Amino acid sequence: MVLISPSLLSADFANLEEDINKIEDYADALHLDIMDGSFVPNISFGIPVIKAIRKVSKLPFDVHLMINNPSTYLEAFANAGADWLTVHAESCNHLHRTVHKIKELNCKAGISLNPHTSEEVIKYLIKDLDLVLVMSVNPGFGGQSFINESLEKIKRIKEMADEVNPDLIIAVDGGVNSKTINEVVKAGASLCVAGSAVFGKVNPAEAIKELKTLVK
Ligand code: DX5
Ligand code: ZN
Repeated sequence: MVLISPSLLSADFANLEEDINKIEDYADALHLDIMDGSFVPNISFGIPVIKAIRKVSKLPFDVHLMINNPSTYLEAFANAGADWLTVHAESCNHLHRTVHKIKELNCKAGISLNPHTSEEVIKYLIKDLDLVLVMSVNPGFGGQSFINESLEKIKRIKEMADEVNPDLIIAVDGGVNSKTINEVVKAGASLCVAGSAVFGKVNPAEAIKELKTLVK
């Protein structure tokens, strides 16, 4: 069974509590896209918003840090209510140190890989990770099309994980929808992030249920 982490980026920012309530009993986590206007060409929301919505949701907060120098802010995100903290391999000079810092904060540690980044960068760290987030679009915006080459990367990460870390969550982010989800899960993903395919729909709860049924 695939897990679904709806991305709040596609929710109505004027009615966050209302939108979160719609998915609270159906989602497996809530994906929070943090963008700094430097690592990615967009600015989203930050620590005060996470703190505020922490009061209205019991879902695990799956925080995707699309920011430069993420290690500077890890403690602040953990204190705001993050449960999983995912940093980009491309934004860290000392990935090993950053991953262990996340674990010391009692959060689940994840590494995200941009579409051009090889899975080789996690080879010597994979056993320490809770999650790998494969970007299947160039990060920065919701509603983009799935990049097909990501499927091969997911398969390779699944093979690596089966050898040394079978509990690793392989997550996929970007362009996951009713047309792509089955291939993504077949390739080895156990968690799918979906923004427009959930919050972009009239009934987000039904959308989550439908995505799950499309996985054969
Ligand atoms: C993209 C973000 C994604 C985004 C996904 O930079 O990391 O989480 O919200 O949106 P969809 O599912 O619409 O591609
Ligand atoms: Zn994301």
